[in-house]
Amino acid sequence: MSSELRNASKTLLKLSKKRIICTLNHRRCHSSFPTAVETAEKLVQPRSKATFNDPFSIVSHEMSNLAKNIASLIGSGHPTLNRVSSYYFEAEGKNVRPLIVLLLSKALSKIPIEERNRIPIDKSDVSDQPQYKGTPQATSIAGNSVDDSISPLQILHGINPRVILDPLSKPMDKLPQFDSVNGILPKQRRLAEIVEMIHTASLLHDDVIDLSDSRRGRPTGNIAFTNKMAVLAGDFLLGRASVAIARLRNPEVIELLSTTIANLVEGEFMQLKNTVLSNNESTISNDGETKTIPSATGKVPIQDDGFSVDVDHQTNVDAAFEYYLHKTYLKTASLMSKSSRAAAVLSGSQDVVIENCYEFGRNLGLCFQIVDDMLDYTSSDLAIGKPSQADLKLGLATAPILFAWKEKPELGELIGRKFKNPGDIEVARSAVDEFQGVEKTRLMAEGYCLKALENLRVLPESDARSALELLTNSVLTRTK
Ligand code: FPP
Ligand code: MG
Repeated sequence: MSSELRNASKTLLKLSKKRIICTLNHRRCHSSFPTAVETAEKLVQPRSKATFNDPFSIVSHEMSNLAKNIASLIGSGHPTLNRVSSYYFEAEGKNVRPLIVLLLSKALSKIPIEERNRIPIDKSDVSDQPQYKGTPQATSIAGNSVDDSISPLQILHGINPRVILDPLSKPMDKLPQFDSVNGILPKQRRLAEIVEMIHTASLLHDDVIDLSDSRRGRPTGNIAFTNKMAVLAGDFLLGRASVAIARLRNPEVIELLSTTIANLVEGEFMQLKNTVLSNNESTISNDGETKTIPSATGKVPIQDDGFSVDVDHQTNVDAAFEYYLHKTYLKTASLMSKSSRAAAVLSGSQDVVIENCYEFGRNLGLCFQIVDDMLDYTSSDLAIGKPSQADLKLGLATAPILFAWKEKPELGELIGRKFKNPGDIEVARSAVDEFQGVEKTRLMAEGYCLKALENLRVLPESDARSALELLTNSVLTRTK
């Protein structure tokens, strides 16, 4: 039985047991067995499968211009800064985040325009108005377009207004003409670019933190340049992304995207200092060396290593899973969910659509990272273009080892000491095999994949929605 068929029959069972409530065309409809059959049939033979082999093809025009458009946002007058900040865009990445934003934007454009009246859509942005009139104006006060600046350009681009021969900060280029056929708004396309810039900034920083040496089949930024330059290039990308966010001129979207930046840092911090698996607040591990954190009160903090001994094993495991999922949301799903929500906000759609787009991005993001954590146990370096089996070496307890710990409480000690002792990693890996940690992780990811597919049903049927379904399924089945 193929895995798709297996998934579908499981869904069929689940859906036929309970009445599913779906929101279609903004009306709540209660569907039972016939809908369940239809849903499961679509999973076995998604309409998209017959039509598309590649979800990229629907937005291939935008995807092929992505790197070029980003290049126009990140130019500076310093050649080395240009090299480092464009380095990760040169190698082929998965580009899954901008792909989600673009496909979702296209799918949202199929909602009748009369139903997209939550916010006034800028006339120049709607698909039946091909004229896109954004021109950067030095004197612009509060332009509506993605190209307009509010501050005078000589302030934004000059270090010294009298010396503007080769300003360090180059002006951002104008967006190319709006393609009236496609239905994707210029602001949504810019959103896709911003999302990739934020993600890339986080990768530059992440590779410094993880001491990584290869990504996308090439040396990481920290290896090719230096830690210092990689960190600064990440900061620069964030700075430029922030300007582009502000120029979307939508406070709700500005709030959402700024929060994703904070969330990424929070998620990374939760990973760095796992207070559930090692609740010692007084020390931190600094590349193998233990440092004492200066206390705010000046008192010597209480040393309290390990798990809470007052509660039973199952409660500790539950708390660890809760922490892991929260961290995973912040680290990966936040950018996908909040950018999906932002795409829906920009489309002018109603709240029910916005909520489902948010939930779609959240469920897909959780599925994506859980699969990533699983692949770390199953893939080779060559297959994923970066070192595999890295998480245990970094001391990280992800889903596969948490599932093994649930069955084998002794693993708690190894997890608490971040697999630092000789032999810890081997013991942990064989426990994952013994207790089917990888298989259980796959099932967990599958649950989020199915929820994401349900969220998509708020959108009218279209090629773009089918492509999103295909993309969602392929996140679960990917091998790299
Ligand atoms: C990859 O994780 C890393 C992330 C998804 C986020 C990293 C976030 C930060 C470093 C915080 C700073 C954020 C910004 C915006 C500058 P991974 O290490 O599990 O994946 P990998 O194997 O691809 O490295
Ligand atoms: Mg990493």
